[in-house]
Amino acid sequence: MNGPANRTYPIENIRRDFPILAQQVHGKPLVYLDNGASAQKPSAVIKKVSETYETAYANVHRGVHTMSQLATDAMEEAREKARAFINAGSASEMIFVRGATEGINLVAAAWGRANLVAGDEIILSVLEHHSNIVPWQIVAEQTGAVIKVAPIDDCGNFLFEEYENLLSPRTRMVAVTHVSNALGTVVPVDRVIRSAHDAGALVLIDGCQAAPHMAIDVRDLDADFYVLSGHKLYGPSGIGLLYGKEELLRAMPPYQSGGEMIDRVTFDGTTYADLPFKFEAGTPDISGAIGLGAAIDYLNALGHEAVADHEGDLVEYAAEQLSTLNSVELVGTPDERAAIVSFNVRDIHPHDVGTILDYEGIAVRTGHHCAQPLMDRFGVAATVRASFGLYNTRTEIDALVRGIGRVREMFS
Ligand code: ALA
Repeated sequence: MNGPANRTYPIENIRRDFPILAQQVHGKPLVYLDNGASAQKPSAVIKKVSETYETAYANVHRGVHTMSQLATDAMEEAREKARAFINAGSASEMIFVRGATEGINLVAAAWGRANLVAGDEIILSVLEHHSNIVPWQIVAEQTGAVIKVAPIDDCGNFLFEEYENLLSPRTRMVAVTHVSNALGTVVPVDRVIRSAHDAGALVLIDGCQAAPHMAIDVRDLDADFYVLSGHKLYGPSGIGLLYGKEELLRAMPPYQSGGEMIDRVTFDGTTYADLPFKFEAGTPDISGAIGLGAAIDYLNALGHEAVADHEGDLVEYAAEQLSTLNSVELVGTPDERAAIVSFNVRDIHPHDVGTILDYEGIAVRTGHHCAQPLMDRFGVAATVRASFGLYNTRTEIDALVRGIGRVREMFS
């Protein structure tokens, strides 16, 4: 069967919504399996960004003139859509940032420098992307805090009991991914958060690989901070969100400073704007934020459940098909995975695999996936990663399997 698992999932209409999917690469139809790096954009998002520039653009929160008010209203409407999307309590808790990376840097720098002292502990996991490791290493160096690392098993599952054993009265922050960008492992973040809170620690969840694939409810999770990137969510690049509980954001000093984030400036001192603007120095990515609002509308119209079912079928089918190939070694076989499969083709470097697949029109990511400690854990330098989105099909997975056959032929 090559269609969607659920016959009512409107896959043909969905594919038509994404103009780039009609492109050919090296004379072959594009098979885009690099959604973990960045997802493609539906016409609704592309049009919304163009319309903003064509009909309702000026700088926001600054002008009394009509264009500024239109742009401000549209941007704040997008913030409200984002709030509803993750069920935050208030739009004041939604900070527009460049992406998940900037969100984590903001928390590590602003919260970390103000709150961490020598000997305090930060728990990360082996699954983390570099963007949820390096900001914590920097603040640990600055404050004398210590980083501890929660392990995984040989399949790539998060080891919950080992994580719980790391919690101590000195743990101040647990920063973990919701879904591993390299393996697709779904981390049981609800339990992670409960245990961390019992130990008196705060929790930051890197949700950039989760938000495109599953419903997020930050209040139900009781996350203290949650970050996501717009470009992986079918929105524009250069825009993302940091959610933080209001009392935490209120107590944190600013991260960047300048225009927009102030209340009153004199040469004797400055008072800061209220939330969320205290953390939004400078002119924001106005059309990006508005485009992200359109991407959220698009996802909401399809429904998270329908998307999750469709992608669940794809990832299961991909893992199953790839594991039938003698030449393929899956890297990570977690019990619960979202939309990502990592593998290697025996005796062939992942970059060579990726290059030959590209000649077949197939886009995958190859390399360490910005997760070198995770690669070290599996004893590999790199993998090939196929990551799925709401517009992919089983037929495209069949093309990937045939493409790997082609790779084998070229190297035999
Ligand atoms: N973080 C993105 C990825 O995993 C770029 O590919």
